[in-house]
Amino acid sequence: MQYKAVIFDLDGVLVFTDKYHYLAWKKLADKLGIEFTEKDNDRLRGVSREESLNIILEKYRGEPISPEQKKEYLEEKNDIYRKSLGEMTRDDVAKEVRETLKKLRDAGYKLAIGSSSKNTAYILERTELTDAFDAVSDGTMITRSKPDPEVFLKAAELLSENPSDCLVVEDADAGVTAAHAAGMDVAAIGTATTSGRADYNLDKFEELYDICEG
Ligand code: BG6
Ligand code: MG
Repeated sequence: MQYKAVIFDLDGVLVFTDKYHYLAWKKLADKLGIEFTEKDNDRLRGVSREESLNIILEKYRGEPISPEQKKEYLEEKNDIYRKSLGEMTRDDVAKEVRETLKKLRDAGYKLAIGSSSKNTAYILERTELTDAFDAVSDGTMITRSKPDPEVFLKAAELLSENPSDCLVVEDADAGVTAAHAAGMDVAAIGTATTSGRADYNLDKFEELYDICEG
């Protein structure tokens, strides 16, 4: 065993909620007359809801927006997003994801979530994944989101493991930076594979097991 624990990002790694984030932001961006593509959305991966809005507003050219108005936009986006989450079921978790989680746990690895999302508990509940993890570190427990290492260090602490014994699984560039800043190796999946900065690139989720075994 190369590692004692595996810390999983949630959106875009275990479930494809990254698509729902995009669609909800897109609705808001359209309303504000801001161009917003799936490529723009990649910059929002791993970063908090508030920081995401600030990134989207970089292209805003209208009247100044007050802090209260920003708060309303955040709520509006989250309401749209939560409606999509409300339709999720256990079938939204791919078979290879559920099987790999079980295989890792049966082999003795501790498993945790390390996500910037404040909707983590709701997503885990909808998809019946809550019991698959020994600890959950999420956006409700941190003051700085990725690329800051806080969420991953918190996960290691909750698991009582040294950061160097943890492997992180991420789809976000900000998450790769956060994992390394925490002193953890990282396996990238999807978007995060393109930078070449991760310690491993996953073509398929199930490759994770062999990586952990070394
Ligand atoms: C991360 C997503 O997991 O959670 C980001 O990659 C998102 O795109 C962040 O902004 C915060 O999510 P939420 O659910 O708290 O709005
Ligand atoms: Mg992600």
